[in-house]
Amino acid sequence: MKVLVVGGGGREHAILWALAKSPKVTQLFCAPGNAGIADVAQCVDLKATDVEGITAWAKEHAMDFVVVAPDDPLALGMVDALEAAGIPAFGPRKNAAILEASKAFSKELMAKYHIPTAKHRTFTQLEEALAYLEEQGAPIVVKADGLALGKGVVVAQSVAEAQEAARAMMEEGKFGAAGRTLVIEECMTGPEVTVLAFCDGKHLVTMPASQDHKRAFDGNQGPNTGGMGAIAPVKCYTPDIARQCMEEIFQPTVAAMAAEGRPFQGVLYFGLMLTPQGPKVVEYNARFGDPECQAVLSLLESDLMDILEACRNGTLDQVDVAWRVGGACCLVLASGGYPGAYPKGLPITGLEEAGKSAVVFHAGTARNEQGETVTNGGRVLGVTAVADDLETAIAEAYAAAKCIHFDGMHFRADIGHAF
Ligand code: AMP
Ligand code: GLY
Repeated sequence: MKVLVVGGGGREHAILWALAKSPKVTQLFCAPGNAGIADVAQCVDLKATDVEGITAWAKEHAMDFVVVAPDDPLALGMVDALEAAGIPAFGPRKNAAILEASKAFSKELMAKYHIPTAKHRTFTQLEEALAYLEEQGAPIVVKADGLALGKGVVVAQSVAEAQEAARAMMEEGKFGAAGRTLVIEECMTGPEVTVLAFCDGKHLVTMPASQDHKRAFDGNQGPNTGGMGAIAPVKCYTPDIARQCMEEIFQPTVAAMAAEGRPFQGVLYFGLMLTPQGPKVVEYNARFGDPECQAVLSLLESDLMDILEACRNGTLDQVDVAWRVGGACCLVLASGGYPGAYPKGLPITGLEEAGKSAVVFHAGTARNEQGETVTNGGRVLGVTAVADDLETAIAEAYAAAKCIHFDGMHFRADIGHAF
């Protein structure tokens, strides 16, 4: 099979790495890809959001299957466009990707189907939002409705801070159209866990629970990032909690989407908080998380291609999905300054050495004119190790990362330490 993966980060590198192991897959392509992806796939110079361009390219080059990994092209309807052109594609259609693309939609769905989540209200008028914040008090959470690169959420410790966030989003247009509608929620407490699930519209198969580390610095300090590292599995996500989540959250969500005429096919990302009142949904995403994907797919023993096809064909109940016993850790090496401004084009050394004991997934990398691998983004690499237990996997990821150097390289020293 000729398979195209859309995207160009660590998550897409991990998907391609897993697909490359499938005996069914003969050729891999990636749009746009990066320097590391170029070692496993032929990179195609098209933007991940270029729905028309990618659909035309996939048709012209007779792709047998396309995996759409990032949120934006899913929200834009890339899967619909590919399927309309006769190309089998993995990922939710536009009418199901809305589960991530609109928080107002997902909150209403959860309310309608009694899926546990933080109490919320949606606002389109600033004055009403400000009055509601006054009435509710702090701590309280203010969210932009639409996609805002994970930055449209403010967990406010005071009413003034919450009102300032609401003003910035609604009045000053901080997140453009994404912030014109506002969701205000009760503040939940407890450990956060990610559960990714393969879905075929009717059935779902969960992957080992994982945990992202969103803040830039050790001890969960500093600004939010795309994710500084991930581990899987997660100790506090016990079999009892998993059963409860399956009954109260996972199956009801898949059934709700089907009942709404929006069957969800793809990877459904459950962002959960294990609160004193039980597990609750913080957010849904309509795709693999990054960097959770890198840790979780490292544990997959079955053929990923078989699973992705089954998700599309509605036959997930007939496919084998087996996981390695043990643990995985993905440690993100970021550019100095990230998530703020950072330099690009800095040479990276030690990749080969690190690759002897870990898998180094590339995120923001490129090749310069001299053929050197250089930095090209905020999150640069995801050093990923797998072992018979999580503690060893974490130690091995850190040991491998020691081989790698680029100027200003920054990583968290405490990935996986909290749990
Ligand atoms: P989201 O983009 O919805 O995942 O939110 C980003 C982060 O904000 C989450 O990972 C949580 O740490 C935090 N957060 C979001 N909603 C809540 C909430 N209702 N209560 C407490 N923290 C929250
Ligand atoms: N790691 C969080 C996300 O991908 O949204």
